[in-house]
Amino acid sequence: MKIAISGKGGVGKTLLASLLSKTFAEAGYSVIAIDADPDANLASTLGFPEPDKITPISEMKELVEERTGVKPGQAAPFFKLNPKVDDLPEKYSLKQNGIQLMAMGRIKKGGTGCYCPENALLQALLAHLLVARDEVVILDMEAGIEHLGRGTAKAVDKLIVVVEPGRRSIETAYRIGKLAQDIGLQNIAVVGNKIRSESDRESLISSLPSFEFLGFIPYDQAIVDADLANLPLLDSSQQIITEVRNIYQALLSSVQTPNTIN
Ligand SMILES: Nc1ncnc2c1ncn2[C@@H]1O[C@H](COP(=O)(O)OP(=O)(O)OP(=O)(O)O)[C@@H](O)[C@H]1O
Ligand SMILES: [Mg+2]
Repeated sequence: MKIAISGKGGVGKTLLASLLSKTFAEAGYSVIAIDADPDANLASTLGFPEPDKITPISEMKELVEERTGVKPGQAAPFFKLNPKVDDLPEKYSLKQNGIQLMAMGRIKKGGTGCYCPENALLQALLAHLLVARDEVVILDMEAGIEHLGRGTAKAVDKLIVVVEPGRRSIETAYRIGKLAQDIGLQNIAVVGNKIRSESDRESLISSLPSFEFLGFIPYDQAIVDADLANLPLLDSSQQIITEVRNIYQALLSSVQTPNTIN
């Protein structure tokens, strides 16, 4: 199963990505968790040791040059369009408790068509992870879906947009929904987070009538307290763990067993 998670800043994408990765891993799946947010914190949320020492792929200058034939930052219209990437997950990931973690780094957004070799490498790597791998892949993205292109969109079994009570995250959900449509990605669903009351839940449902809801996660002060005290986040709220298990079940029943390639 290939899952991409997006949504407005601060809504809880990384928390959901981490807890889902953990839930799949505990159920016996091999999981590749990808931090595709330049402001990476998936490693620390998952409790990997020394998360600050992880170098994102896009910042591995020698690797980028070796694989694309072009030095990062160099203006070169020609580089290898299909760089070799299938060995990268094994070489450049950290593994803990059945979860293999990779950090992508920044995708450059080029107004005039971006010919950066870093992007070519990241896009090839993502295409490989989404299309050719058998593992469960969980992608923690930023507030957009720039990492996904037409080629890879079809391989995403579910794009989960995290929303919280409040207009701005709902507007972001509509914007992401539109971008998804543009690249032909139809499997999109919503998770409501930081829910404090029944009326929070109802207002989200009524604000997003055309979206499938996979579940709702309560607001829990225990998460905030654990964060402030620098304690492991993922074990700090039993009610959140329970709701993420329900979301995991909803995903399993919502996503038909994908046709395996080959
Ligand atoms: N259900 C919840 N209850 C309480 N606090 C929460 C909940 N979900 C997330 N938080 C807190 O909200 C903050 C943002 O969560 P998180 O980092 O997962 O969001 P994000 O969408 O990944 O943010 P960013 O856009 O910065 O990457 C964190 O401090 C997290 O601990
Ligand atoms: Mg995040």
